[in-house]
Amino acid sequence: DTAGKVIKCKAAVTWEKGAPFSIEEVEVAPPKAQEVRIKIIATGICRSDDHAVEGKLSQVKFPIILGHEAVGIVESTGESVKNLKPGDRVIPLFAPQCEQCMCCKDPRSNICIATKLTKSVGVMSDGTSRFTCKGKQIYHFLNTSTFTEYTVVDEMAVTKIDGGASLENTCLIGCGFSTGYGSALNTAKVHPGSTCVIFGLGGIGLAVIMGCKIAGAGRIIGVDVNPDKFDKAKELGATECINPKDYDKPVAQVIVEQTGGGVDYAFECVGHIETMLAALNSSHFAYGTTVIVGVSAKEATITFDPMILLTGRTLKGSVFGGWKSKSSVPQLVLDSMAKKFDLEKLVTHRLPLDKINEGFDLLHSGKSIRTILLV
Ligand code: APR
Ligand code: ZN
Repeated sequence: DTAGKVIKCKAAVTWEKGAPFSIEEVEVAPPKAQEVRIKIIATGICRSDDHAVEGKLSQVKFPIILGHEAVGIVESTGESVKNLKPGDRVIPLFAPQCEQCMCCKDPRSNICIATKLTKSVGVMSDGTSRFTCKGKQIYHFLNTSTFTEYTVVDEMAVTKIDGGASLENTCLIGCGFSTGYGSALNTAKVHPGSTCVIFGLGGIGLAVIMGCKIAGAGRIIGVDVNPDKFDKAKELGATECINPKDYDKPVAQVIVEQTGGGVDYAFECVGHIETMLAALNSSHFAYGTTVIVGVSAKEATITFDPMILLTGRTLKGSVFGGWKSKSSVPQLVLDSMAKKFDLEKLVTHRLPLDKINEGFDLLHSGKSIRTILLV
């Protein structure tokens, strides 16, 4: 029985900005009050982890254990944890839900005030870390830190899921799938028969396509500079795909021309300012809605003529697809078990945690959609 004891286990540590992952033996302290220690079973590689390695996210301090898209099993719980017990199947939540703050109580928002997306944190709420390696304190990442055999998270940053949920791909509900899917359903509220365009056909963009399709969109246009992404996009519901490199005019103009004035819903799933502007410019002048899903580099700013909004366009964004995490994830898991959508379509590779650097190489080369690390 490991409850109450320090666990020594394997983790992928990022010692400094730009460094490759280093597989180390780390010590994971027991959970304190309102904390939960989780045995991670599978964890996906997301572009945001890569942004973190490169120092593009403001909340990252090194050395750190990254990873935020995972499924695991509760190993032990700290004092006064009410709704979780050892053996429960869980998904950690990088966007937590305290269920008590103004935002958690407001149906319009899923951003709990405890969400630490823009503040530099890297520690638990008592100001300390639960990870040590070679005598050094290792920082936490986004309330989660999942590139490790064991992690400790706050009770508000984890949710119990069905005991029969797949341990093979359910981790995608912890970030990539839900982010894209919810952006279509919750943030844009895509309506039947509408025309949608998705910039960036990685895991996030493909999940947006899955959401647009379920919402009954009539035309779903995928845009990517890598045409290798088109087959999968079409398999998931894209009705057509555009490579901006095939045209000598701006892609937004191409889309406006091909849609009789612009799309109902445009999604940016790359994280670049230029594609955000292209998305905005491809939306219909009178009623187009643009949703920013991609995470931009810190300090990036966007500039556009405000007249573009005056005629009726809407520009918005969402984190985690607008889902209130703790209360929505269990249902998303049930929907996945009921085959409402197929997470497996987003998985291109599976590797052991030890091969995490290979997984990131696959991401960089554009060869993977999602790589799942089996811990
Ligand atoms: N125009 C269109 N597509 C582009 C462009 C561009 N100028 N530049 C890159 N892309 C494509 C890439 O070819 C790739 O297919 O965008 C896609 C991005 O996919 P991934 O790198 O797999 O990223 P993903 O995990 O889908 O995340 C996308 O959302 O969560 C955030 O941090 C994440 O900002 C990132 C974004
Ligand atoms: Zn993510």
